[in-house]
Amino acid sequence: MKLDNENAFGMIGLGTMGSNLLQNIADNGYNCAGYDNSADKVDSLNNLKRDTIQGFSDLKTFAKSLKSPRIVMMLVPAGKIVDNVIEELLLVLEKGDIIIDGGNSHFTDTERRNISLKETGYHFIGMGVSGGEEGARKGPSMMPGGDKKAYEIVEPILKKIAANVNGDATVAYMGERSAGHFVKMVHNGIEYALMQLISETYEILKNGLKYSDEEIHDVFKIWNEGRLQSYLLDITRDIFAFKNEGESVALVNYISDQAKAKGTGKWTSQAAMDLNCPIPTIDISVSMRDLSHYKDLRVKASKMYPSDDNLQYDDKGKDYITALENAFYFSMVSAYAQGMHLLFKANEEFKYDLNLDLIAKIWRGGCIIRSAFLEDIFAAYQIDSKLEHLFLDDFIHNNLTKCIAGIRTIVSDAVMQGIAIPAFSASLSYFDNFRCASMPTNLIQAQRDYFGAHTYELIGKEGVFHTIWEINNKTEQSDLIS
Ligand code: 6PG
Repeated sequence: MKLDNENAFGMIGLGTMGSNLLQNIADNGYNCAGYDNSADKVDSLNNLKRDTIQGFSDLKTFAKSLKSPRIVMMLVPAGKIVDNVIEELLLVLEKGDIIIDGGNSHFTDTERRNISLKETGYHFIGMGVSGGEEGARKGPSMMPGGDKKAYEIVEPILKKIAANVNGDATVAYMGERSAGHFVKMVHNGIEYALMQLISETYEILKNGLKYSDEEIHDVFKIWNEGRLQSYLLDITRDIFAFKNEGESVALVNYISDQAKAKGTGKWTSQAAMDLNCPIPTIDISVSMRDLSHYKDLRVKASKMYPSDDNLQYDDKGKDYITALENAFYFSMVSAYAQGMHLLFKANEEFKYDLNLDLIAKIWRGGCIIRSAFLEDIFAAYQIDSKLEHLFLDDFIHNNLTKCIAGIRTIVSDAVMQGIAIPAFSASLSYFDNFRCASMPTNLIQAQRDYFGAHTYELIGKEGVFHTIWEINNKTEQSDLIS
């Protein structure tokens, strides 16, 4: 039996993630403790029969087993539960102890908790953890933010349990207050966009080009061996090879098309709107998950507006898959670029003191959006740590330019065949407007002034103008009003 004050790390919430992370910590030579209000979960942890892991059903004994200053991490569902756990913890912890919220909390909740815990003398770290169950067990990517001094105490443990890329642990201090959870939220927004792009590629391959599961598998396999290499393509390739016993087609064909979402993608879009930062590929990805739930309406509409059988992809040949690869590369770059731009804007607004190169660095391993391309993002920010938008990086500019013909072909063909590819086309339109020195939004300015006297500015002329637009009341000149 171990003595009190011996455990270096405590975990609250012994679901698969919590239990796996504890085992990872124990593997790295630390004594640790777990607490859950479900006796079954505590039993499961103790049944692992590992000398250095203790499961507790009593919070006080759990807290007593920890070394001071106590390090307690919560891995519980976001929202009210986090506040409830903190309230209970404050009854058993002491001032100076460290509380880490490792769940997907909304950054504004983390902001609030950071302030209130600081006032009461506790250290708080809001930390995004990515990598799913396997990542937790073998090495996640972690995005801690908040109390920097507390982070320095926890850092040696986090560095050991994180994934490792070229000798660098995939964890780093992100910045002040809610920075860690903001960065994790944007990670998830990019995750939504990449998943949507992969599913649109699947749609083109399956319903456009009439590829079999095996052929789809082969496309993703080959892509994953090149510049598109990523965790998400890795698992997608495997999904197309997975058949249940006795089945002739892959399991994925039997899965309902109504995609679930826990909310972090939506939060990314909401935060981006608040910051006036366009992230259309992410937005449309959130919307398409929502549209997937309108099954009855979609079934009804599919009968009213059936696909036109005359609209068929003709035999496209091998080069078409190269165009598709280019289109995917182009849109993937756009998804990451939009997410990184949002981080740039949030950094200005919230004064987090984020380092975009460090974020790219710790996303290269352990997390769900890890990919070969993150090396290029990392390189871009190493060249220019203040880079506002990835499209402006020379290497990315060069690669994107080579993909433009491919994405135009893929988007226009899909549009003509009635295949929905909203994330591909949002990525392209975003790009086409982004590279547009003169957008058609001058007309919107005129319309606003017409119906609401909201005024407008003129090119090359100082001041704010208003016009009486009705033809009958036409005035010779626009009036300068300030
Ligand atoms: C990760 C993931 C994870 C997320 C799931 C499900 O980085 O490990 O982002 O945090 O919870 O991917 O998210 P949705 O239910 O919203 O798809």
